[in-house]
Amino acid sequence: MDQNAKKQAVAKAAIEYVENGSIVGVGTGSTVNFFIEELGKIKNNIEGAVSSSDASTKLLEALGIEVFALNDVSNISVYIDGADEVAEHKHMIKGGGAALTREKIVAGASTTFVCIVDDSKRVPMLGKFPLPVEVIPMARSFVARELVKLGGDPEYRQGVVTDNGNVILDVHNLEILNPRELEQSINNIPGVVTNGIFALRGADIVLSATDTGVETYK
Ligand code: 5RP
Repeated sequence: MDQNAKKQAVAKAAIEYVENGSIVGVGTGSTVNFFIEELGKIKNNIEGAVSSSDASTKLLEALGIEVFALNDVSNISVYIDGADEVAEHKHMIKGGGAALTREKIVAGASTTFVCIVDDSKRVPMLGKFPLPVEVIPMARSFVARELVKLGGDPEYRQGVVTDNGNVILDVHNLEILNPRELEQSINNIPGVVTNGIFALRGADIVLSATDTGVETYK
């Protein structure tokens, strides 16, 4: 099975977690794009969505799914999103698509986070995928120097401005032995909006598409 077929399979499996009449939290990325297509097929069963990016909002609206502002919503039962890496304890690296901050917010506001990946994303330890860090533009060089002190090699993601008007540093060569601790340490650097480690609020359920079917980790 090729990677796109796996993404499609896991997107279909995620529909099981969508409750009738609910507002669904929707992540960002190519795997989620397949999920949005599936959501379109059952759009009459849901009230709408809260989106984690302008890109996902456009796709949702194009399918006639109402997109609510998070401030207008009191309860999101399930948040569905992809990841760049998933390790033990359902800790993840996210932000390959530069949407990490809104993703972390919507994930935090949701009761259940269902992470949808193909099996290429499953890793024994986080850190091979360069860790995205969203940074206020004026703090870019300072934050980069602080990240070097933490043992990483930050690289400015040229030409990318996030939906929040900020920039991304991708940090290479980090050994992420303690994801919760590193998530906190990086977030404590002044000028960092957030970083792509999702460990303090990891996934509740990981659905992983393999050649033989979709595996569920709870
Ligand atoms: C975007 C993300 C995505 O979830 C992550 O990059 C995975 O994307 P894809 O499904 O395209 O591999 O965190 O900021």
